[in-house]
Amino acid sequence: MEFRLDPWSSQLVVEYDKLFKYFGIRPFKEVLPELERIVKPHHLMRRGVIFGHRDFERVLQALRSGEGFAILTGLMPSGHMHFGHKMVIDQVIYYQGLGAEIFIAIADVEAYAVRRLSRRDVIRYAKEYVANYLALGLRRERLHIYFQSNYRVEYYRLMQLLSRRVTSAELKDIYGDVEPGKVMSIFAQMADILHPQLPSFGSHRVVLVPVGADQDPHLRLARDLADRYSAEFKSLGLGGLERPASTYHRFMSGLTGGKMSSSKPESYIALTDDPDVAAAKLMRALTGGRPTAAEQRRLGGEPEKCPVYEMLSYHLVPDDEELKRIYLRCRGGEMLCGECKREAAERLRRFLQEHQRRLERARDIVDSVVDVPDF
Ligand code: TRP
Ligand code: SF4
Repeated sequence: MEFRLDPWSSQLVVEYDKLFKYFGIRPFKEVLPELERIVKPHHLMRRGVIFGHRDFERVLQALRSGEGFAILTGLMPSGHMHFGHKMVIDQVIYYQGLGAEIFIAIADVEAYAVRRLSRRDVIRYAKEYVANYLALGLRRERLHIYFQSNYRVEYYRLMQLLSRRVTSAELKDIYGDVEPGKVMSIFAQMADILHPQLPSFGSHRVVLVPVGADQDPHLRLARDLADRYSAEFKSLGLGGLERPASTYHRFMSGLTGGKMSSSKPESYIALTDDPDVAAAKLMRALTGGRPTAAEQRRLGGEPEKCPVYEMLSYHLVPDDEELKRIYLRCRGGEMLCGECKREAAERLRRFLQEHQRRLERARDIVDSVVDVPDF
């Protein structure tokens, strides 16, 4: 197979359909109606931003029976947290509201060994993420945020045991050439995904991993490992291992086109950007508008291709009816991009002002939420 997903490449995944075809990811819209019968789906689900899943039926089952489930996801502290990173935590907060226990891995070793940041920067960015998470509404009950380099001993034991049933040929097939730093990161991520099922972390149960599509290679390996170790774990009295379930969301486009990326400051808005500076950045963004006003009045804009509309639909307009009105005014050519951007920039400014007020308070409690390594 020629098509490979690379969790370390900076390329934009546009061919979402290939993920269904080659890797057996299922379209999220297949499970949406059933979810709707139980709870109100998140706006990222309703709007197709979360487009794929594996075994989400297990989460539906857990919701129906009330048996409880856990969320495990990870963050990469290799730059300022921006709106593209906000999507994961929005989902985590949603599931926390549904009663899930939450585990969040900080991939500090990966940021250091693969992305090659200094330890000081990694720790600084990680703390900024955690403060942002709290300011966005993540609650502290049944919450476990940990640095991959600074966790409990059972997690490291699991990581080491997992090495026995993985071959280099398999790693190569899934990830391509991997140097040692990547191998360490892969095993850390396997332990992340599987450890909530160890008895000392809550036991055998449904674990859902919400991620961006580039992380699917890790999920495929973790699911295989769950199968390979389940019997042995049962015989050790550990209660077996379930395959993790997962969901996949689209990446945000950058404001200047391409992918929203920490290496291109004009492409993203960080949650810590000054609200006025952020609003000005949005005003300079690419749009789905036509070359001339006359043409736009005649043909309407193209919100599907518009980074400004993406900001509105992913982050700034939770109400479906309100978003629909904006969509129709754009499509119908009733609203031009200048007006639309001014409104969007104003929403963004207000959002950031409010968020950053909460952020100041959240910064003070980061150290009581996560155990920060001293180097
Ligand atoms: N590798 C992920 C990234 O690049 C971060 C991560 C670490 C993660 N452990 C995880 C994601 C476990 C999901 C589950 O962003
Ligand atoms: Fe984008 Fe708004 Fe212009 Fe439509 S009117 S293309 S949504 S900026």
